[in-house]
Amino acid sequence: MDRRVFLGSLLAAGCHAALPPARSRRILILGGTGFIGPHQVRHLLARGHQVTVFNRGRSGRGLFGKDVEELIGDRNGDLGALAGRRWDAVIDESASQSTAPEWVARSAGLLRDQVDQYLFVSTRSVYRDMAMVPMTAAAPVLTRENSPVPVDRPLPYGHAKAYAERAAHDAMPGRVTVVRPGLIIGPEDDTDRFTYWPVRIARGGDVLAPGDGSDHVQNIDVRDLVEFQATLVENGTFGVFNAVGPQGGQPYRTFLAAIAEGVGSQPTFTWVDADFLIERGVRPYGRELPAFQVMRGNTAGFGRFDLSAEIAVGLRFRSTTVTARDTWEWWRTLPAERRAAPKAGMSPERERELLAAWHARG
Ligand SMILES: NC(=O)c1ccc[n+]([C@@H]2O[C@H](COP(=O)([O-])OP(=O)(O)OC[C@H]3O[C@@H](n4cnc5c(N)ncnc54)[C@H](OP(=O)(O)O)[C@@H]3O)[C@@H](O)[C@H]2O)c1
Repeated sequence: MDRRVFLGSLLAAGCHAALPPARSRRILILGGTGFIGPHQVRHLLARGHQVTVFNRGRSGRGLFGKDVEELIGDRNGDLGALAGRRWDAVIDESASQSTAPEWVARSAGLLRDQVDQYLFVSTRSVYRDMAMVPMTAAAPVLTRENSPVPVDRPLPYGHAKAYAERAAHDAMPGRVTVVRPGLIIGPEDDTDRFTYWPVRIARGGDVLAPGDGSDHVQNIDVRDLVEFQATLVENGTFGVFNAVGPQGGQPYRTFLAAIAEGVGSQPTFTWVDADFLIERGVRPYGRELPAFQVMRGNTAGFGRFDLSAEIAVGLRFRSTTVTARDTWEWWRTLPAERRAAPKAGMSPERERELLAAWHARG
């Protein structure tokens, strides 16, 4: 299905119909195409806001027709199209490289007198570790001191995002909103990290399920994320917030059962000890085992965020059943060649091989 038609059908399905109308704001999105961008743009338009996007025009030029103003430039030095303009808020979702601190310093520095609020889309990866249970936004973030990076190497993702957050605060003190999403999932996610599970479970049979079912998981449906960000902008809420769900996390057993319900499948789950998988080269949160983390040591709190502060300012969660159903529906609209080449998850052969070894362990 054409991307525009699919996005339009989400709107027609009444995704945002239950929400009250908002006072119209002028909102600039740095990004606006890619994965979360179109969801954000459509939601803001549905809420009655005026949207401008700024990007290089490579990944979705003309995607929104006349409804959205498109500014073309490059965060690597060409911000000319932003000069002299005025918006109520900016949502910065395109600074995700090692250069993110400089990109944010430059854009927040330029925009500080042109916008009231700078919402920076950061990441759960900024935390030094996730040993705390429960995790909250008060946990320490990565620095060069607590987690050294060789001077001749580019900043890794978590460090870059942590320093980019700091650059935003430095440029616009007291007017910054930081949102730290975990794995962003749902329709249009091109990484297949969550999508692996609905697709695999829909196929049925003996499904390799990691751990003993008690490890907790928290992700964020892309629609919950963009709705939360819109709420933070509409209410002018500043501060640092995590964006994962559900509150406190859910055990993997519940998570996979919800996915099975969403795709209407009744497979057999074979729970395979996490250390057994690790010994055979299957890395939690790695390519073969996406969206799974072991709840111990430095990752004990990975799926155990307390979201009371976020819920108080508007974070809401769709159920995993709904996310799985919609992701599965979207997946089936993709061309057969794309579906034949998933970007994450275990191949059927690898899964069979590991299940055979597990059943044969004696
Ligand atoms: N995906 C996840 O699970 C996840 C989890 C946590 C946090 N996040 C964060 O969420 C944000 C959005 O992720 P996403 O997956 O939606 O990103 P994405 O699909 O890669 O989209 C990136 C956007 O940035 C624009 N862009 C890239 N390079 C640019 C440049 N040099 N100058 C101007 N614009 C540029 C792109 O448009 P053009 O190519 O046309 O320029 C596009 O609009 C990122 O900040 C990421 O760190 C993602």
